[in-house]
Amino acid sequence: MMTQGLMTTTVPVKLCCLKQQSNVAGRSPRGVRVHALGARRRILEEKEVVPREQVEVIRSLNGWVAEHMLTPVESAWQPHDYLPRSSSSSSSSSGDDAGFTEGVAALRAGAACLPDEVLVCLVGNMVTEEALPTYQSMGNRTEGSGDETGSSSLPWARWVRGWTAEENRHGDLLNRYLYLTGRVDMRQVEVTIHHLLRNGMDMLVPRSPYHSLIYGAFQERATFISHGHTARLATKHGDAALARICGVVAADERRHEAAYTAVCTRLFELDPDGMARALAHVMRAKSAGVYTATDYADLVDHFVRRWRLPDLAHGLSDEGRQAQEYVCGLAPKIRRMEELAHRRAARAEPSAVSFSWIFDRAVLVG
Ligand SMILES: [Fe+2]
Ligand SMILES: [Fe+2]
Repeated sequence: MMTQGLMTTTVPVKLCCLKQQSNVAGRSPRGVRVHALGARRRILEEKEVVPREQVEVIRSLNGWVAEHMLTPVESAWQPHDYLPRSSSSSSSSSGDDAGFTEGVAALRAGAACLPDEVLVCLVGNMVTEEALPTYQSMGNRTEGSGDETGSSSLPWARWVRGWTAEENRHGDLLNRYLYLTGRVDMRQVEVTIHHLLRNGMDMLVPRSPYHSLIYGAFQERATFISHGHTARLATKHGDAALARICGVVAADERRHEAAYTAVCTRLFELDPDGMARALAHVMRAKSAGVYTATDYADLVDHFVRRWRLPDLAHGLSDEGRQAQEYVCGLAPKIRRMEELAHRRAARAEPSAVSFSWIFDRAVLVG
């Protein structure tokens, strides 16, 4: 059962898979239904039309986006900066080949001590990043903030393309690291990526920019936490190169989170009612089985505070007030449920789940 254990695995695996879980909808290579889609699908199948006013609000932010969210290519890092150099201006000399070979040997030596739990966590992070074409399609599907021509000069479209270009480096870097270290079954990992891309991903309200941006803020924070967690594990196990790699990716996710969060903050100012309702809608779907409970409660707490949900007073409809009430009461509710689940789990033995990514070796989950 290659991916079945990801939702309940203990600390090393848990956080890394936050984003992945939402993408593995469908069947794993061995035909295992990865998570129960029933409740979630009912929400996803609500065919909601994006109100015209919301599209106008989003379009009104075009200038603001250009000012706040785009970063220059010239100052960006590239995957090759964190890997053994595969060529140089005199790459035909045997000395350069030796340099590359030595670099790979050092990388492999550093990775030799990584335990299986960390490898599974890392692969979870990597395959999540490699599903980027799915996320870019999502961005372009939203009304008012997508790239309608493929090369639109509007700031929102440039943001989607610029964000994609930055994200693309994450999968490249992690994939090459894992390939060079030889610690995982790369073919099985590639099969997972193939499935992820073929399966696609359900989106709540596929064309809604509000839902998409709120979802983006959550996912960026989740991946920031996840890559940062893996960086700390890499340090703990003595792999400094991996710690640097995960650290630089985490820093990107942090910056993306800041961008999505800032634009949502602005949207809460412009349309508190629409955003409160969209947030409640996203939260209801997520609570139906995407995150582990503690991570989810932490994320909800963070964004409720960050977007000052309890302080929203003006401009809320009845439905908006209900949404506000639901979202503000959600984290304590989840924590109570988690406490009960913990008590039950404490009485149960952790179980071993085998992962094809690590040659079918088992990792304890519980
Ligand atoms: Fe990423
Ligand atoms: Fe990101």
